[in-house]
Amino acid sequence: MTLEQIYARIWDGLAAALREEDLPFKVMQAATVGLDGFPNVRTVLLRGVSEQKNLLTFHTDLRSPKIAEPGREPRIALVGADPVRSRQIRVFGRARIARDGQARLDAWHASPDHDLIAYRMRLAPGAPMRDVDEAFGTPPGAHDVPGPAEGPEHFCVVEVCPARLDWLDLSADRPLRALYVRQGNRWLPNWIAP
Ligand SMILES: Cc1cc2nc3c(=O)[nH]c(=O)nc-3n(C[C@H](O)[C@H](O)[C@H](O)COP(=O)(O)O)c2cc1C
Repeated sequence: MTLEQIYARIWDGLAAALREEDLPFKVMQAATVGLDGFPNVRTVLLRGVSEQKNLLTFHTDLRSPKIAEPGREPRIALVGADPVRSRQIRVFGRARIARDGQARLDAWHASPDHDLIAYRMRLAPGAPMRDVDEAFGTPPGAHDVPGPAEGPEHFCVVEVCPARLDWLDLSADRPLRALYVRQGNRWLPNWIAP
């Protein structure tokens, strides 16, 4: 396998995750530097992949720490693994928050209703609650529950612009690891020790 083939496999693997829910790399871990200086990491669903634009996106809540953190330190890392094929993709880059604009609204309207529930909660992610229903404002069954019109104001797209891609494949007899470093508009590929 060549460095060029692996490069294509990285982007194909990421793009495939958009087409089917249960493919590897749909679920990735996003790591940021916390406001307190500690590392912070959480699971996110990959929502957009463009090799041409050198862009990956995921959705999140504007009230979440995932927004404040890149505001202060935009460097971000994503990692996804395919445990069946023993492969891993690590992405290091910078995050940009798309708060406004048509792309954000299009992403909102394109999302299945179930995925939007969290954005309709009246409490910010991580806010302390006295009981389990408080995030929705009222107990289930009451009239004052957030309606389907609520939520877009909390919803945003996080755009990750990769600067380094790190591929690891432990499936073969001889483990493979390749590193791609972004230089201007090009990628500089190299083998590195697994
Ligand atoms: C399978 C799975 C997928 C998730 N996808 C997302 C996502 O795409 N965006 C998001 O903000 N949170 C997602 N979460 C929740 C986050 O991992 C996290 O718990 C939540 O966003 C709070 O993180 P924060 O402290 O960074 O705000 C997902 C959780 C799971 C279990």
